Amino acid sequence: MKQNAKTAVLVFHPHMEASRINARLMREAKGHEDEGILVRDEYAALRSNQIDIPSEQAFVKGCDRLVWQFPMYWYSCPPLLKEWEDLVLTYGWAYGTHGDALKGKELMLAVSVGSAGENYHHEGEFGYTVDELLAPFKATSNLIGTVYRKPFILTGVSSGMSDQSLEKAAKDYSSCLQGDWPAQ
Ligand SMILES: Cc1cc2nc3c(=O)[nH]c(=O)nc-3n(C[C@H](O)[C@H](O)[C@H](O)COP(=O)(O)O)c2cc1C
Repeated sequence: MKQNAKTAVLVFHPHMEASRINARLMREAKGHEDEGILVRDEYAALRSNQIDIPSEQAFVKGCDRLVWQFPMYWYSCPPLLKEWEDLVLTYGWAYGTHGDALKGKELMLAVSVGSAGENYHHEGEFGYTVDELLAPFKATSNLIGTVYRKPFILTGVSSGMSDQSLEKAAKDYSSCLQGDWPAQ
């Protein structure tokens, strides 16, 4: 990781007050704010239910690395992340002519997945791997010129993840945020 690199962690959870996993991961990330890891709870940041586009663009442009953290909902993300992409990643800014605002920055997803990892296989209950389901994010990354890194995935979080396992996951997330991000 580049020295003094700034990392923006964008957290998308529609019910943070009821969250166990993402709330814990977000708290862990916030513990590193003085080390250049800046955390934004995107649902809490809404103004009159609207995304503040200039503020979001300035936030991500000012960082070298981006994390999109969210719980898996319907094999994808909560709706605000999709809307965020629609509104913030504009033509001429994030892609298209002169649209290179995020080019070269690293992008990592951090996803909590309710069901067990063994269900996410071609022969498993859901027929797709988690990485395959995340393909639209990788394609988005390709379009906006970010460097897509190996996602941080926690599976099986809905089937009674113990407090001890969650604490270990939080520490792993912490190390991940502070370290180099491997290629996928
Ligand atoms: C609306 C909704 C849709 C969900 N869809 C999925 C899904 O497609 N696959 C899955 O494994 N878990 C799914 N889950 C479970 C969530 O991924 C799980 O509750 C979440 O990761 C837990 O994190 P939290 O404690 O931060 O809420 C869904 C949960 C909700 C509420």
